[in-house]
Amino acid sequence: MEGIAYVNCAFMSLDEAKVSIEDRGFQFGDGVYEVIKTYNGIPFAQEAHLERLERSANMLELPLPKNRLELEKLINEAVRRCSFQDAIVYLQITRGCAPRLHAFPNKVKPTLVLTVRRARPMPEELYEYGASAIIAPDERWLRCDIKSICLLPNVLAKEKASRAGAFEAILTRNDGRITEGTTSNVFIVKSGKLYTAPEGNWILSGVTRAITLRLARREGITVIEDFFSPEILMSADEVFITNTSIEVMPVVSIDKQPIGDGQPGQVTRRLAKLFKAEILQYIAQAKL
Ligand code: PDD
Repeated sequence: MEGIAYVNCAFMSLDEAKVSIEDRGFQFGDGVYEVIKTYNGIPFAQEAHLERLERSANMLELPLPKNRLELEKLINEAVRRCSFQDAIVYLQITRGCAPRLHAFPNKVKPTLVLTVRRARPMPEELYEYGASAIIAPDERWLRCDIKSICLLPNVLAKEKASRAGAFEAILTRNDGRITEGTTSNVFIVKSGKLYTAPEGNWILSGVTRAITLRLARREGITVIEDFFSPEILMSADEVFITNTSIEVMPVVSIDKQPIGDGQPGQVTRRLAKLFKAEILQYIAQAKL
């Protein structure tokens, strides 16, 4: 297997990497994670990702085994060892190994797992012609702002999308609020204005979302961070989704109905282009 793993203080190949069955990540999903993409060996928006990791861990009273600087060094070292052009870095930190009792164990050492794999390029057609999505019920817990490794509702909804031949499932709460995708934030464009669900406990505050919003505001696009209904979603002029690995991806059909004219929209294309430029600028600065 191509790539590298770091498990509790040692680098190894991906197939050698193991964690104990006593690990609370395995027993309870008691842990947090981050996904960072590297471009030309440079982890993009690393500060924002590590800041969110710290926030997620804090909210679960999970002490991180390394501080920010140590994590940055570790990521750089792992990325350097792989020498992939573009890579995906996963960081998973669990509360550690202990006999299976729900309450926090005393004096347990957190488990830190880091992996680096070559980034698989997304099919170009998804950007050129747009992706499809379904709408699925949001069956997650009430703290979606925490990037927890418990992803079962996301897994089930993504599987539903996959079985429907769609790329993503866009999630809606019972009260008719669209929150986000199973692995992405969701945006719509209506009459030139950009809408997305607000930060808070119903969504994960995406790093790509924040950058996209900053770029949109810089372009003079009106941004409205508020919930919208499935009906508004379906009647949008444009829909797109964002995350670390897909960046800005147009969605042109939902539940087999076309969105707008069924093609990636102008605003989406503009933001996708600006996002790419932002990456290039970040890399150029990081190299200085
Ligand atoms: N997922 N919302 C959810 C539920 C997510 O899982 C993700 C990212 C996002 C977008 O966050 P960001 O822009 O910071 O990547 C929003 C990652 C990619 C994953 O689980 O693999």
